[in-house]
Amino acid sequence: TRRVTVRDLNLAKERGEKWPMLTAYDAMTASVFDEAGIPVMLVGDSMGNCHLGYETTVPVTMDEMTLLSAAVVRGTSRALIVGDLPFGSYQEGAVQALRSATRLVKEAGVGAVKLEGGERSLRQTELIVQSGIPVMSHLGLTPQSVNAMGYRVQGRGDEAAHQLLRDAKAAQDAGAFAVVLELVPAELAAEVTRSLQIPTVGIGAGSQCDAQVLVWTDMMGLTGGRMPKFVKQYANLRKTMGDAAKAFAEDVVGGTFPLEEHAFH
Ligand code: KIV
Ligand code: NA
Repeated sequence: TRRVTVRDLNLAKERGEKWPMLTAYDAMTASVFDEAGIPVMLVGDSMGNCHLGYETTVPVTMDEMTLLSAAVVRGTSRALIVGDLPFGSYQEGAVQALRSATRLVKEAGVGAVKLEGGERSLRQTELIVQSGIPVMSHLGLTPQSVNAMGYRVQGRGDEAAHQLLRDAKAAQDAGAFAVVLELVPAELAAEVTRSLQIPTVGIGAGSQCDAQVLVWTDMMGLTGGRMPKFVKQYANLRKTMGDAAKAFAEDVVGGTFPLEEHAFH
């Protein structure tokens, strides 16, 4: 079996076929999603919040991205693995961006990278793509800019909507193979999806995008606390794992584990 390619995803758009993407941060979880047939996995810098215990994605480093991306690549054989370029690894310019993208490809084995920004990341996207590394663009709410924009729906109002359309066009013209739209009004995401040849990947962006992505710990109910409205919870792993941990603790304290069947003689 060969891995999914960016060409496969562009053909899917031509055929009107939608596809799912999930984040993954470790080999074991990634292998579950690979076996389940998830065609694209994102080693998101959401690992900052979901896996490493940071408050935001901002502190995530290239070392952390490289380590966890390599684990996800090792745990999979079929999915296209996209690695996020973390904050500070591409903002200085195109050369820095290419160096970071090249490291993720060579050391972790990812098949593509993702970076935030359309027009503002134009030169970075162009140089990485020209160098033979596929780039996914990320527009709308861009969490690496949380200190400037906060966490709220983007692209509301005419001016913001026009800027998002310009950003999406800029990403496509620079050679991006897909565009993530995060927390964007559904009507605007639909318009962007219609106006682009490359696929859009929605998260909190309505039903008309070509693909959908969710953070795996959110959609599996492992993340604690209140979830944003766009998250559909497909499992309750927090409860499942908490209950199992409590049952184990009770067994050990009460002397009902291990039993004879678990012992060696
Ligand atoms: O880091 C991440 O998980 C992401 C997705 C939400 C698109 O960028
Ligand atoms: Na991200």
